[in-house]
Amino acid sequence: MANSGLNGVTAGSSGVSTVGKAGVGLTYRGYSITDLAAESTFEEVAYLLIYGKLPSHAQLDAYKNKLAGLRSLPYQLKTLLEHMPQSAHPMDVLRTGTSLLGTIEAEGEDGRTAASVGDRLTASFGSMLAYWYRFHSRNERIETDSDEDTVAGHFLNLMSGMASDPLKRDALDKTLILYAEHEFNASTFSARVITSTLADTYSAVTGAIGALRGPLHGGANEAAMELVSSFDSPQDAEKSVMHMLKARRLIMGFGHRVYKNGDPRSPIVKDLARQLSDAANNTSFYDISDRIEAVMFREKGMFPNLDFYAATAYHLCGIPTAMFTPVFVIARTSGWIAHVLEQRGDNALIRPLSEYTGPGPRDYVAIDDRG
Ligand code: COA
Repeated sequence: MANSGLNGVTAGSSGVSTVGKAGVGLTYRGYSITDLAAESTFEEVAYLLIYGKLPSHAQLDAYKNKLAGLRSLPYQLKTLLEHMPQSAHPMDVLRTGTSLLGTIEAEGEDGRTAASVGDRLTASFGSMLAYWYRFHSRNERIETDSDEDTVAGHFLNLMSGMASDPLKRDALDKTLILYAEHEFNASTFSARVITSTLADTYSAVTGAIGALRGPLHGGANEAAMELVSSFDSPQDAEKSVMHMLKARRLIMGFGHRVYKNGDPRSPIVKDLARQLSDAANNTSFYDISDRIEAVMFREKGMFPNLDFYAATAYHLCGIPTAMFTPVFVIARTSGWIAHVLEQRGDNALIRPLSEYTGPGPRDYVAIDDRG
């Protein structure tokens, strides 16, 4: 029997990150995620992933300026965003926006490289999301520049039309660090498969967005919010989760293919969710989430993954639920680009074998003789 879902299969080598490595845990280019989340900013981490080292002061300033200069959207893209339906999922908006940008600002033209395409997408995804959102929900055509000097601040500013709140901006910034990279997850592996055919970076990112959209991967943060917000109280949550487990239903935001004893990102995002809840004077979703966590551990020995408390944190940052996974895209683009570059550095077409389970050889049946 072939391995189900490539579980436990080492499908290649990578120097970008370690996930669940004994004694090391989660690291980006050797730096522990705990240190990065505590000490650095998303721009430093994106630079680390794409350019391979932590930036100096001067390099970081230049990088932030560069990203701030890449926020504008070409008129063709604005027109497309206006024509996409309000009912579209914002993940589909990003997937389509990426694809269009790839036709207007093609890689290879005007000196564009995988790294510069990555910077452009990292800087402009927030603009695309907010332009589409504000046009359809408030009938506004917004300017996509802002005075904010970070990716997190830019997104919050454009979505709300107001200067970003420091606590929310910093919390979002930390979650972007946590979401930026995670080895051979489904979307990154998709990006590497596409890259291995020698396709362009926009194609790799477009495919990766498609893979990230599903609720077993990035879409879990959105699904976790739907779950948590469906309960009135911790007691209600406990009762319902018990029923769901009995019915063998999945509790979104729990479990992980690699981490079986806890996701090291979860305590960090849980702490952010608590800080935001305290500041909002509203611990309702946090308390419900905390009870679900206790029930899942008691009943299944399972731990929350990053997506579970990210849901509460994003909600308290004022981000609409449908934007949770798109925010993940903004963060993960730097990880995808690191893998595109690594794949190209030592490329071999990724083309595994399958175990055939179909019918044996048989005679062709002419169309008139088919029942
Ligand atoms: N809720 C309830 N039960 C769960 C569960 C969850 N979230 N995740 C796994 N399980 C159970 C499975 O039903 C299975 O039970 P069984 O052995 O009785 O059939 C067992 O735990 C093993 O699960 P499995 O699906 O084989 O693990 P996996 O490594 O293939 O899957 C995930 C990992 C992430 C796909 C899975 O845990 C999941 O679907 N989680 C919810 C979605 C989510 O949060 N995704 C984000 C991941 S970062």
